[in-house]
Amino acid sequence: MAIVDISGLHKSYTTGSEVTNVLTGLDLRTREDEMIMIMGPSGSGKTTLLNLLGGIDKGQKGSISVDGREITGLDAKALNEYRRHQVGFIFQFYNLLPTLTARENVELGLEMLIKDKGELRERAEKYLRMVGLDDKMENFPQELSAGQQQRVAIARALAKEPTLILADEPTGNLDEERAAKIMVMMKRLQHELKITFIIVSHNSYLKEYMDRTLTLRHGVLETMDA
Ligand SMILES: Nc1ncnc2c1ncn2[C@@H]1O[C@H](COP(=O)(O)OP(=O)(O)OP(=O)(O)O)[C@@H](O)[C@H]1O
Ligand SMILES: [Mg+2]
Repeated sequence: MAIVDISGLHKSYTTGSEVTNVLTGLDLRTREDEMIMIMGPSGSGKTTLLNLLGGIDKGQKGSISVDGREITGLDAKALNEYRRHQVGFIFQFYNLLPTLTARENVELGLEMLIKDKGELRERAEKYLRMVGLDDKMENFPQELSAGQQQRVAIARALAKEPTLILADEPTGNLDEERAAKIMVMMKRLQHELKITFIIVSHNSYLKEYMDRTLTLRHGVLETMDA
């Protein structure tokens, strides 16, 4: 079954009298535990698409189903549940809280899901180990390298055990060598945990790690030629 099934998705923004049509009937169906990269010029609507898929914003027309559930018609409460349980987000600038340790940053994303303190800690530590940060769990973000901070953010997304991970420029802030290391790790975890990844990036060298690369252009997704 397709984890993500989008059909005929439309999204436009209106600012004053100006209307920007960003998505104009976009379709996407993922195959089982696929890792997909979406490329496309700046302003083509990549972040817009991730926001719609992540339940952060709403489109005007079309349907988005994730793991068999239609999310376009959900009310605020159900959408909140969806975001909490089913989707993990990874951002370019990590979005870690500077006053919390690596472990506490991962725990923060789970507090709504796991009430027991011991269990919460166990879950956070499990995923920090999984991304190779066994010895950095009690460090604060400023004591970590850029790559290590991104790994904390990845652990935070994975620890929810979501069906879908959305990543907006996850390696945009890393050099090519560190980006490659992070990608190898994401790829391994994807297969172990059977998660669908949708990754937005400008870095075409990431293509080799992907099952599929698509380009967002004129409001729709096009298959990229090799
Ligand atoms: N909240 C908003 N209000 C009005 N216009 C918006 C809003 N968010 C995005 N846009 C417009 O929608 C278009 C797509 O923006 P989006 O951020 O999705 O592009 P992107 O592909 O992610 O670009 P980049 O690669 O630069 O991050 C742009 O023209 C942008 O100006
Ligand atoms: Mg963007």
